[in-house]
This record gives sequence, structure tokens and C-alpha cells, in this order.
Amino acid sequence: MEAIQWRGDTLLLLDQTKLPVTEEWLPYTDAYQVASAIRTMVVRGAPAIGVSAAYAYVLAARSFSALDSASFSAQMTQTKAVLAASRPTAVNLFWALDRMERCLMAHGNSPQALSALEREAIAIHREDMEMNRRIGSFGASVVPEGASILTHCNAGALATGGYGTALGVIRAAHAQGKVSMVYADETRPLLQGARLTAYELGKDQIPTTLIADNMAASLMRAGRIQMVVLGCDRMAANGDFANKIGTYSVAVNAHFHGVPFYTALPSSTIDLALSDGGKIPIEERAREEMTHLSDVQTAPLDVQVFNPAFDVTPHQLLTGIITEKGVIYPPFQENLKKHFG
Ligand code: MRU
Repeated sequence: MEAIQWRGDTLLLLDQTKLPVTEEWLPYTDAYQVASAIRTMVVRGAPAIGVSAAYAYVLAARSFSALDSASFSAQMTQTKAVLAASRPTAVNLFWALDRMERCLMAHGNSPQALSALEREAIAIHREDMEMNRRIGSFGASVVPEGASILTHCNAGALATGGYGTALGVIRAAHAQGKVSMVYADETRPLLQGARLTAYELGKDQIPTTLIADNMAASLMRAGRIQMVVLGCDRMAANGDFANKIGTYSVAVNAHFHGVPFYTALPSSTIDLALSDGGKIPIEERAREEMTHLSDVQTAPLDVQVFNPAFDVTPHQLLTGIITEKGVIYPPFQENLKKHFG
């Protein structure tokens, strides 16, 4: 399964707002349209946003290539800013855009860089898939035999260049016969767990049970969950991390019930420039996501709404961080610096 395809002159994105009902690929040849696709969550998930932005940068460079070099450079700076403003929390977006800009600079900040930029975007995409395979195989080693695993939101093939981070761990462990059940939190308000994780795992015939977010604690109390693994949008230098809203409650519940709690992420999600999670910008999204389910009104239209898309989980609640370089254990600050500094 994949959500992003590069066709040489067009970026194809699987419209994740329509899943699981409709599988529709949308074509993009304009970088600003890709920025809008990121904002509206046609494409979502930290690594997938980064990969899409990298391809958007290629599309922009092509469309401005007939300009003189000063105008070309001004347009590229502007495009980067528009892409960077699409979503604030996942650091992969900024990481990918900075990498593309460095590639442009290394090739004289001119339209001559076009083919190098395309190669760089393809490399970002391919490396993400490769990192996910390694995350999967390191992560599978910490999955207990016969485990029932809880996950939150969607950190799968749909959220990445392919294979997934948290769902990559689940895929690899399932291939080793270790997974008896995956519990997928439905993940209010946008239902990424119900719409995307349940769909994605179902396609791979991995046994999945959908639960509402408020059911996880009672399953843990009943001893029906042996491990939690979920994704990450940005990890600070001390191991605090932002992920989909509700992750923090899962972490607190897991801690209380003694259930091992892991996040899985590639190095492109680590932001060592931020000392702790309090400094991670948290996106707030539209009130309609809370007052409506699809087009159906579910709350009074004049109610006050608070709709943060992410929360921060303190590193003290983490058992380990599953990365492409191995599983990192406490002390996180020291060990993150050692492997990624
Ligand atoms: O708002 P979303 O759907 O982009 O949020 C996605 C998540 O929170 C994922 O867990 C995270 O991006 C990791 S994806 C490998």
C-alpha cells in the first residue's frame, strides 16, 4: 500500500479524506496545490507530508525555470514559505524543505538544478521507505509473542513514503507470527484510526479490532493489551514528543497499567534544536472538525470549541523509541544525542 506516487511530471496523492469509502488518486503539477492538499489532509502523517513537500519543490522549480535567476530564486523562497506554512507540528515538512533548498543551493540556486532536485526528492521518498523497513525489524524484536497491540491514529504506509513506522513494526511482527490482535483507536475527531489504520491493516489481513478512544483504559485493565506502539510528529532533544491528540492519554493509561509504551519514528522526525516538548508548536484546526462528522452536525453550532490536532507526551512515559538505528532507551536525552546528534 502507498499514498504517494511520482510520475516524472505529476505527483499523485491518494485522497485520504475519502478513505475508506473511495480510493481516488489526485494529480498535482502545482506546488501551491500540494500545500493545500497538505493543509486539507488529502495527504497527512509526518513523513508523508515531508515527501510530498519535496516533490512540490521540484514542481515549483520546473514551473519557474524560464525566469531569470533573481526571479527564480525569489519564487523558490516564496514557495518554500507557502509549503512550510501548510502544517506546523510535524518537523519532517521543514526537514524535507531544508534538504531540498540545500540541494538547490549546491547546484547554483538556478534552474540548472532541476534534475538534481528531482533525484533528491526521489531519494527522500526512497530513504523514508528504507528507514521504515529498519524501524519495523528493530521494533518487531520488542513485540512479545502473541501480543495484542494498541495503536493510535495512523502511522502506517498511508502516513509515510510506504510501509509505515508504528504499523511497520506491527507488519514486521505480524510476519514473524507474533501479533494476535491490533486494537486501533478510532482517533477523534478525524478518525484516522477508523478510516485509515483499520483499512490499511485489513488490506494486509492483520487481525484488527476497532475501538473508540475512551475504551483503551478498560482493555488495559482487563490485561488485553501487551504493548502500545504509535507514531510521532516531532520529538524534542529530551525525548518528549508530539503525536496525534489523545496520545498523551494513551501514555498515561499505559503507565498506570504497566503496559510497555513505544513510539516509532525515523530520524527525520527528531528535532534536536528543541530542548523539550513544551517548545513544539501545536496545530489547532477548524471548529467544524468538532461540530460535524463529515457533513452531519453533531454539536450546537454556537458552542465554543478547542481542537488541537496534537498533544505532547513527556519522555518519562516512554518505554523506548524505535528508530532506524535501533531501539533507544533511557536516558533519552543522552542516547538521542549519541545516535542522532
Ligand atoms: O493529523 P495527522 O493525521 O497528520 O496526524 C498523524 C499522526 O499523528 C501520526 O501518528 C504521525 O504523523 C506519525 S506518521 C508515521
